[in-house]
Amino acid sequence: MISERFPGFPHILEAQQFSREWIEGPFFREAILMDRANTMQERVELKWVRTLLEHQTMVQLFYEESTRTRASFSAAMLRLGGQTMFSTENAGLFSSAAKGEILTDTIQVLCQYKPNVIVLRHHQDDASKEAAKVSSVPIINAGDGKQQHPTQALLDIFTIQKELGRIDNLRIAMVGDLEKSRVVRSLCYNLGKFEGVHIDFVSPTCAQMKPDIKAYLERRGIVFSESTSILDVAPEIDVIYQTRVQKERGSNFKSNDRKLGYFTVDGKVLERMKKDAIIMHPLPRVDEIAPEVDADPRAAYFRQVANGLSVRMALLRIILAPKE
Ligand code: NCD
Repeated sequence: MISERFPGFPHILEAQQFSREWIEGPFFREAILMDRANTMQERVELKWVRTLLEHQTMVQLFYEESTRTRASFSAAMLRLGGQTMFSTENAGLFSSAAKGEILTDTIQVLCQYKPNVIVLRHHQDDASKEAAKVSSVPIINAGDGKQQHPTQALLDIFTIQKELGRIDNLRIAMVGDLEKSRVVRSLCYNLGKFEGVHIDFVSPTCAQMKPDIKAYLERRGIVFSESTSILDVAPEIDVIYQTRVQKERGSNFKSNDRKLGYFTVDGKVLERMKKDAIIMHPLPRVDEIAPEVDADPRAAYFRQVANGLSVRMALLRIILAPKE
């Protein structure tokens, strides 16, 4: 049964629920993310649209702004023949939340219209778990609070595998606002399932990775180190995973920290990096990657965006058409 290999199914709530086996195989008919995402990618390139999810509908309830996550879920649903039934960007303003309705009521109301899946982004930690308790349809966490962004973490793992051909034994630097970035937290949960990974946390001391993630990595036998300059680690690493200062989440990262240039990917960092290393970023970028980096073949962040479409198509297919 799919649920044994995919705890939490049919909801996607946190990165801990994915097993390595589910992410990368061996092949199971019901679920295997990377294999499915690769197939989806080939088909997108062939401009192929399927009717697999014909008559299935998705709700997108976003209490926080989004470009990539919301657009890629819509695109994924359309490509598979399904439709977006209701989509709101600023649900706090443009749904009954503005009148005081609580999240669990909104979820129960939307379920009455019989969507097949609800994609939820919320500013509160664990909002997706609360929603899942009352929802009669699968909830996909599209980022909640400062804790989790599990679908981003899947497309990140997929991107590393595609770009570098493996995840085991890689050295990965996570850079910037590690304290408040949900993306790097979820990515750590995913990397913890692989062998011989070494993580360099590069941040000012006021924005370091939180102890719960470090404790998790220790339990999984993942080596990590902390430093305060990207220039120091650049020659050693295979992946730079850059993050944005999470201003709206009360970042402790000071503007002074930015000026020091220790946390910015620019020409100086490129010079020091290995020839076959890559630079990733969940985007949006502000000024933490200099525009001059974009032309370098190691800049993988726009390819990473494209992978988001295939991974989200694969996820929708696994959740909504598990038997096909
Ligand atoms: C991230 C998010 O919303 O957490 N963006 C994304 O989903 N691509 C990262 C960010 O906002 O900095």
